[in-house]
Amino acid sequence: MPSSLSWIEVDAAAISCNLRKFRQLLPDECKLMAVVKGEGYGHGRQEVAQIALGAGADWLGVFNLGEAAALRQAGIEAPILTLGYVPQADLAEALQLNVQLTVSSLETVEAAARAAAQTGQKAYLHLKLETGTYRLGLPETDLPAVADLLADDDNLVLQGAHTHYANIEDTTEHDYARDQLDRFRKLLAQLRARGFAVALPHTACSAAAILFPETYFAMVRVGIGMYGLWPSKETYLSAQQKGQDPLHLQPAMTWKTRVAQVKQVAAGVYIGYGCSYRTTRVTRLAILPVGYANGYDRLLSNRGHVLIHGARAQIRGRVCMNLCMVDVTDIPEVQLEDEVVLLGRQQEEQITAEQMASWAQTIHYEIITRADPQAPRVVLSSADTGASA
Ligand SMILES: Cc1ncc(COP(=O)(O)O)c(C=O)c1O
Repeated sequence: MPSSLSWIEVDAAAISCNLRKFRQLLPDECKLMAVVKGEGYGHGRQEVAQIALGAGADWLGVFNLGEAAALRQAGIEAPILTLGYVPQADLAEALQLNVQLTVSSLETVEAAARAAAQTGQKAYLHLKLETGTYRLGLPETDLPAVADLLADDDNLVLQGAHTHYANIEDTTEHDYARDQLDRFRKLLAQLRARGFAVALPHTACSAAAILFPETYFAMVRVGIGMYGLWPSKETYLSAQQKGQDPLHLQPAMTWKTRVAQVKQVAAGVYIGYGCSYRTTRVTRLAILPVGYANGYDRLLSNRGHVLIHGARAQIRGRVCMNLCMVDVTDIPEVQLEDEVVLLGRQQEEQITAEQMASWAQTIHYEIITRADPQAPRVVLSSADTGASA
């Protein structure tokens, strides 16, 4: 097997530790779902699922059935919920895989009833209720028809009801989220008034789990926090304003590559496509075999930094499809094949996902989720990281 030009190290102890911190926030009876969609937010779906279950997660949350099927194929038997859309043609397969389904339209509930009749398996459904995010979610006007259908078909079990907040991370004013919570409560009450027990209502993502115990219901769905990142600065500020002890979350991802060439170039030469950077001094460049095809965003051109020998080296010129160039003039010890940290810590220096996100004009969720999809994920145990968790 040829060596990988870029790889992602995943700190298992950090994920376990972060998850346990969320567990400590919850009442004993409240279930904890580890959200592993988006390839485990870029950390590796199966790897994270196994770590999270080992650290006490009760459920796994994925987006689509393909992700759920892969987890089942890997031998994972824990409860799995698809949080996204499963096409009607795949519902029978979902039931055979013992995967619970988020449903958010009358047509999908009808199709689930057909799949249940066809397979002879009950369909365990979580109704996603529209409360104001206006993406997937059952409009209130469709609730009576769905409730009729659920009541009439013994093969359909309304196991859960859930919703997702539109404006909880981006602000320190949480009126919109509170309105959504009120709407959710009313819709849940309507379902219960119709005689549905709804064993598992759930609304909380990481920010809600950190800030608002009233959002917990029977389960919380934790993504970003488990990977060691605060949902946002605003969430951190809100927690401080409420006088909460800060959760010390530990980022779990380190993205690495190796120097592919070192060369000295004259003052006044242009570096890379478009001649967007001109050297102002005799410059030592290190060429790195990572580019936008690897999720290393082109907006990092002439803006981002990497870490080599524990020091920052700035990107010079444009990030190419498979390569980028960094200035190592002030790090004279750099040599061919030296290890480079694109994201994460090296000695005393750190490039955070938040910092990379600000360079790339996006959010840290996108940075970690898009980190080189082809790169191997290498899970480090506590023995590798020296952690005592
Ligand atoms: C429906 C749903 N629940 C939970 C989460 C987890 O959110 P977070 O990563 O902010 O914890 C997500 C993430 O986007 C989601 O879409």
